[in-house]
Amino acid sequence: MAVDAAPRPAVTPRAPRKRRSSVGLKLLMAGTGLLLVLFLFAHMAGNLKIFVGADAFDHYAHWLRDIGTPLLPHTWYLWIQRGGLTVAVVGHIAAAVILARRARLARPVRYAHRPKVQGSYAARTMRWGGVIILLFVIFHILDLTTGTVNPVGDAQHPYANVVADFAPSRWYVTLFYTLAIVSVGFHLRHGIFSALRTLGQQTPRGERRARAIALVLSLVLVVGYLSVPFAVTIGAIK
Ligand code: HEM
Repeated sequence: MAVDAAPRPAVTPRAPRKRRSSVGLKLLMAGTGLLLVLFLFAHMAGNLKIFVGADAFDHYAHWLRDIGTPLLPHTWYLWIQRGGLTVAVVGHIAAAVILARRARLARPVRYAHRPKVQGSYAARTMRWGGVIILLFVIFHILDLTTGTVNPVGDAQHPYANVVADFAPSRWYVTLFYTLAIVSVGFHLRHGIFSALRTLGQQTPRGERRARAIALVLSLVLVVGYLSVPFAVTIGAIK
């Protein structure tokens, strides 16, 4: 007896996944990253005023609240900067998450073993570095901006707050700052290198130059930032 084969549903070929360009997201990453790097250099320069003395440092902190006056009311500039930085951080993280997701989806088969290539190493370092930096910034604001977790916590006297923060007995705070600042250094080295490689000459010579610039800028930042807690810990600032 002949068995009628059930008619198979017609298979419609799947439309190829529309390839979206990631250029806009990469520009968003680079633009927000640049803004954050500019803040980091300005903040480091301001921190180094601590070596001039307590009055100079406290005066600088008060001046920050007066930028833009009388055009802007007192502290408005600072709030505009805080808003800008928050938007930059959110944009930077959102672009990073979407780009990482797209890169994963674009891979036809999941790797059985993570290849130990530089790309995946850098991606993991960037991800975990970014998380450490974010946690650090939250702690840092509670420490030196609001004073909530600072032993002195006096908004009028930031010099005293910094000196109390990195006292030798609070070595674990210095250790946490060191870990976070070294993470900032690694994050920046890779970020600046990627941005320069995208924008500049993509030749071995261009890459070498981008790598050198990224290394020097990150080292300047790490040494500049770390000089403050270590100077307090060894008693050079008191
Ligand atoms: C040892 C290194 C550092 C020291 C001594 C330091 C010191 C300070 C001080 C004293 C303030 C309060 C300024 C004020 O309200 O007058 C501050 C605020 C801040 N710092 Fe740092 N900082 C350091 C590293 C960093 C790093 C590495 C980052 C970013 C990754 C950072 C991000 C910020 C932010 C976002 C604020 C809040 C600014 C605001 O109030 O709008 N700091 N820092």
